[in-house]
Amino acid sequence: MLVFAANWKMHLGPSGARQFLDTFLVRHERREDREVWFFPSAVALEATARAAESHPDMRVGAQNVHWEPKGAFTGELSVAMAREAGASLALVGHSERRHVFGETIEETARKVRALLDGGLIPLLCVGEQLKEREAGATLDVVERQLIALDTLEPDELSRVPIAYEPVWAIGTGKTATPHDAAEVHAAIRNWFAARGAKDVQVLYGGSVKPENVQDLVGQEEIDGVLVGGSSLHPERWAEIVGVSVD
Ligand code: PGA
Repeated sequence: MLVFAANWKMHLGPSGARQFLDTFLVRHERREDREVWFFPSAVALEATARAAESHPDMRVGAQNVHWEPKGAFTGELSVAMAREAGASLALVGHSERRHVFGETIEETARKVRALLDGGLIPLLCVGEQLKEREAGATLDVVERQLIALDTLEPDELSRVPIAYEPVWAIGTGKTATPHDAAEVHAAIRNWFAARGAKDVQVLYGGSVKPENVQDLVGQEEIDGVLVGGSSLHPERWAEIVGVSVD
């Protein structure tokens, strides 16, 4: 199953999301081999979930949650609230959470735990910064970020998809070569296999666009894509999701 995931970041409120989906849906044709996941802003979760409701190939997720179930945490969103608004997934450890908001590996671990306990699927994002790649430390960095999953049982691990997003490729127009991405994906699969978890889904993210999506999803190691900028245009997004794969 190929996954096409749209990370709308801090764009599109409820009416923007509805308009997007109106335009996208007339261009979208459901296919058995793929799913479309949307990560809208928290206020647009419900509108997006409603629009996606009658489409079995579509799922909606939160961009971020807090690990506590409730309490005095001004500005935060609980797992139960996200679920009530129609989310079945949530991003965890996106590079903007790690590098703009200082989210630690320990915090990502708590979020993963809270999501699994609350019945939502965490999509854990991992990836190295440019200086780390240049120092040849890519696989070490990714393995360190995977520590957030260390306490999970194999059956739980199998339910956690991963998005490999090299930080230097996010929003920059630079993409890892399909070969580079596939190498990291293979290392992630080995990490899971060593812990008894099979069939992990590994997506690639970072400047994915209609022009390069085919090369990426054509790699056996790449199970789908997580897309920021190009997911904000319904026509471009429909092109990405409808890419032909041999
Ligand atoms: P981008 O963002 O496609 O704009 O590079 C990807 C992401 O941040 O998930």
